Amino acid sequence: MTTENFIASSSLALITSGSTTWKTPSNIALVKYWGKRDPQLPENPSISFTLNNCHTITTLSFEKKENLASDFEFKIVFEGEEKPSFQPKIQKFFERIVAYVPFIKAYKFVISSENSFPHSSGIASSASGMSAISMCLMQLEKMLDPSITEEYFYKKASFLARLGSGSACRSIKGELVVWGAHKDIEGSSDLFGVPFSSEVAPIFKNYQDTVLLVDKGEKQVSSTVGHDLMHGHPYAKNRFAQAVDNISKMKNVLEKGAVKEFIELVESEALTLHAMMMTSQPYFILMKPNTLEIIQKIWSYRAANNSNICFTLDAGANVHILYPKVEKEAIHRFIEEELSVYCQNAHYIHDEVGEGAQEIK
Ligand code: DP6
Repeated sequence: MTTENFIASSSLALITSGSTTWKTPSNIALVKYWGKRDPQLPENPSISFTLNNCHTITTLSFEKKENLASDFEFKIVFEGEEKPSFQPKIQKFFERIVAYVPFIKAYKFVISSENSFPHSSGIASSASGMSAISMCLMQLEKMLDPSITEEYFYKKASFLARLGSGSACRSIKGELVVWGAHKDIEGSSDLFGVPFSSEVAPIFKNYQDTVLLVDKGEKQVSSTVGHDLMHGHPYAKNRFAQAVDNISKMKNVLEKGAVKEFIELVESEALTLHAMMMTSQPYFILMKPNTLEIIQKIWSYRAANNSNICFTLDAGANVHILYPKVEKEAIHRFIEEELSVYCQNAHYIHDEVGEGAQEIK
């Protein structure tokens, strides 16, 4: 599929008003997306687990404008309060997508969202937030053009979400999602995420993820700035090649249920992401002392208990702990007794693999 396939007809018959509500999850990358080029295309393919409990619910209400002014008209309400500060981000998103959904100029929108996780938890809300708006816009497109297929509906939702935030395209459909063209992944594309279609070993089907909230503050480095640091980065070329290679390895690991290799790959990916930031210009350390304390504890616990616990990191200090469901009880105890002290206000969130976007009727 090419970009042109995603252009909606400009002559759709418009309905007067309505609304639609979608719930979409966050996701956690196993092989990381870090580095992009215009327009929101990844420098390397990535793969993530779709989460379940960390999600955004968005209602898009729309009303046909009386006269077709050329500007976008929308109001943003977040957790019950109007949020003009979110306006520029959505304005930019609309500018990027209007060529594909020209009907958005014909409507006045109210976009009301709420997150299942606390607002300033340090959990990236752009993936769930942008995917939720994209699902709502696709639902509107489907109301205007009921002939679109289910495949097109989800692919284009992911395509739109990508233009809002790269990782958001992996929060649409599937338990494991690959974004970025890769020779071993059928149908993969830089334009949208695709469900990982190979057989997945049972152990990875209901994997658990507990997010330890080490630092709930504003991100020290926005992801846009972070991705930018990969331009001219001395190790960029090797990093992108390594990620391509790691996708092949990950595919194999997921098919075979090779948990030990999974652990090595996932932790290496997390540390490589942070190594890229430590070796960029300017350089950043995004981990906090407690991030390292937690990593050390995880390694000790793993060795002492022959456990399959491991960690991954986003571009921040919080730690995602990944583990098979059979170890859930023991690891929940370990987290409560030994790791919660390293979290801000002892705060962590238990999550697990989920399936993607759901319409709320
Ligand atoms: C470290 O998707 O937040 O979480 O495309 O600029 O919105 P933008 O960036 P974003 O980057 C996420 C980077 C990451 C790794 C990953 O999720 O793959």
